[in-house]
Amino acid sequence: MKNARLTVEKDFTVSKIDPRIYGSFVEHLGRAVYGGVYQPGHPTADEDGFRRDVMDLVRELQIPIIRYPGGNFVSNFYWEDSVGPVELRPKRLELAWRSTEPNRVGIAEFSKWCKKVGAEVMQAVNLGTRGIDAACNLLEYCNHPFGSKYSDLRISHGAKEPFGVKVWCLGNEMDGPWQTGHKSAAEYGRLADETAKAMKQIDPSIELVLCGSSNTQMPTFPEWENTALTAAYDSVDYISLHQYFGNRDGDTANFLALSDEMDRFIRTVVATCDFVKAKRRAKKDMMLSFDEWNVWFHSDAEDADTMRNRPWQEAPHLLEDRYTFEDALLVGLMLIALMRHSDRVKIACMAQLVNVIAPIMTEENGPAWRQTIFYPLLHASKYGRGTALMPVLASPKHDTKDFSDVTDVASVAVWNEAAQEVTVFAVNRSVEDDVALTVDLRSFPGARLVEHIRLANGDLKAANSAEKQNVAPETVSAAETDEAGNARVPLVKCSWNVLRFAV
Ligand code: AHR
Repeated sequence: MKNARLTVEKDFTVSKIDPRIYGSFVEHLGRAVYGGVYQPGHPTADEDGFRRDVMDLVRELQIPIIRYPGGNFVSNFYWEDSVGPVELRPKRLELAWRSTEPNRVGIAEFSKWCKKVGAEVMQAVNLGTRGIDAACNLLEYCNHPFGSKYSDLRISHGAKEPFGVKVWCLGNEMDGPWQTGHKSAAEYGRLADETAKAMKQIDPSIELVLCGSSNTQMPTFPEWENTALTAAYDSVDYISLHQYFGNRDGDTANFLALSDEMDRFIRTVVATCDFVKAKRRAKKDMMLSFDEWNVWFHSDAEDADTMRNRPWQEAPHLLEDRYTFEDALLVGLMLIALMRHSDRVKIACMAQLVNVIAPIMTEENGPAWRQTIFYPLLHASKYGRGTALMPVLASPKHDTKDFSDVTDVASVAVWNEAAQEVTVFAVNRSVEDDVALTVDLRSFPGARLVEHIRLANGDLKAANSAEKQNVAPETVSAAETDEAGNARVPLVKCSWNVLRFAV
């Protein structure tokens, strides 16, 4: 067996982890809202039509923040259609996904649902087909207490208390030619800056997210970040990053190395932010909102066919990727990358939450169930709270088609002082070798491994369904920790491991 070593030092901290890095995303797309979050006729539906089985799984994940209502959807979103008496709300043609939006769920209903699942809303505004006025009016509707046109409109709709939305996204993927109302970086930067200034006049307590690049392959990356940030640096608080990966050519080793690209993406955006900070002689550091990330590729062909040949359906089956075990490994690796960068990444949203590239799936006349990717998110959200420690890792390495010097083991440690617990998250992404990981906890006297949770499967393509959880975590017998605080833990090839040490 090969060997790796992780040295965990209490004083070498990355940052306190912002729990919002375990956020998620619900878009009006496919069956995310209708048939996912909301299905009045379902046996588990509550008095508001929300599925209780879905809410239970969302609560289990302890999701702190949920981005809404898009995504590409937001760039043609007329928020006024989604408020007030449901029977008066119009149906609209939804351009991004070529569907019909019935507007039965809107701003108020989603706010209510988020309260029920214990999450805060991260609201996006339409800077595609609309602009400053629509963004300001929506903010006034949501956050202003009373005594103005839109706050009084909210009250007349039955919501006396403001929704108190703190985090707002200034559009979505405005660098993408597929975006309705796509703009150049200069056009967008100026519009975002003016919108941000106006919105902060209404409610100075809000935080704003500027659109960064849609992925690392965009021809305008990272010049987009430079231009947009130069225009809007003083008026925004975060810049967004989006990234989806897929194993299109069936090369698992290369696929599992893609989290290194995510890592490089974050480092490049941080460098660009700091460059603009210097250029502008600014004081504040720009933080990052990685507000769309996941594996997404399984459903591509089916979705293109649905949108081209069967458009304008209500809640069609779209982006219903069935995730495999190897997808869960990459999701675990991406979570590790986010934790390792928790000094700058303060918000991150797995895209998405229910039915659409999601950890949670629903059957129309049956139960809600957990996809493979549910588990790494669950573990990170549950045990990854506290302070991320600077990982000092010595691991064997391998090369893949597109990457060199890929460490067999990727890992991060989190110190939860309140619970007196250190949790090490480790993926062995070697497709060939088991690796024994020695965790050296020299600065935590008396620490001992109390639990080793593992996601492993001989079949990389194993997937879950409503009937069967082929991929589910198991607890394996914990390795001994010696007097000096070393535990030698076997990590089988292709496995996600959560090592919980009690201090
Ligand atoms: O999450 C699915 C889509 O991916 C979003 O609507 C868009 O922002 C991104 O391209």
